[in-house]
Amino acid sequence: MNSPVPFWVVIPAAGIGQRMQADRPKQYLPLKGKALIEHTLDCFLQHPDLRGLTVCLAENDAWWPQLSCAGDTRIQRCIGGQERADSVLNGLSALLEQGAQAEDWVLVHDAARPNLARSDLDKLLQALADDPVGGLLAVPVRDTLKQVDANGRVTNTPDRSQFWQAYTPQMFRLGALQQALSAALAAGSSITDEASAMEWAGQAPRLVGGRADNIKVTRPEDLDWLAR
Ligand code: CTP
Ligand code: MG
Repeated sequence: MNSPVPFWVVIPAAGIGQRMQADRPKQYLPLKGKALIEHTLDCFLQHPDLRGLTVCLAENDAWWPQLSCAGDTRIQRCIGGQERADSVLNGLSALLEQGAQAEDWVLVHDAARPNLARSDLDKLLQALADDPVGGLLAVPVRDTLKQVDANGRVTNTPDRSQFWQAYTPQMFRLGALQQALSAALAAGSSITDEASAMEWAGQAPRLVGGRADNIKVTRPEDLDWLAR
């Protein structure tokens, strides 16, 4: 039996899904009878140690109010920002207003990752419960990697064993993450995930090996694969 690890959740969902080329932001595309984001939310809402959850939505989002989960009082909403990191920062502020404390654990998880397994969520929580920094789910790169020049010609084959793909959830102390994200953004650093903000602040997040099927829906074929 796992010991409880209370946690808060931020779901950045303010992107437009440009690479998906669909008629709506990808988090609202249908998958197995409901919207993709509803699958994403379910994994957290079913967890007994969840303290609170906020979704970061685009300012003029007309899709969210149409979902049945829009009426779920456990879900708080906040406005997203220009970049994913801006959306996450707004989400962290919303959680603090909801009563979260700076030392509490917060998990940031992409709205576009609907296939998170409960076993992976529990694995992350248990692996990091006593960690001084926090960390993230990740998967070792499976294919040989190629470095290319501007003409698309291979210049190098780096040692694959050193590379992992960064997945979400990413789990950090709320206050430390807020400080790291704010400082990195203020310095003009390009921040594509929470871990890179923590790295920027001099910390070394821990990787926790996860399932490869916790994919981020990015291109049309990703949704075909999940719907199979
Ligand atoms: N996201 C966000 N705020 C932004 C940009 C992205 O909350 N300003 C969210 C997306 O909604 C998504 C997650 O961050 O759930 C991961 O981003 P990504 O996969 O890049 O989604 P999009 O930005 O929507 O897709 P694309 O880059 O193809 O436009
Ligand atoms: Mg994007």
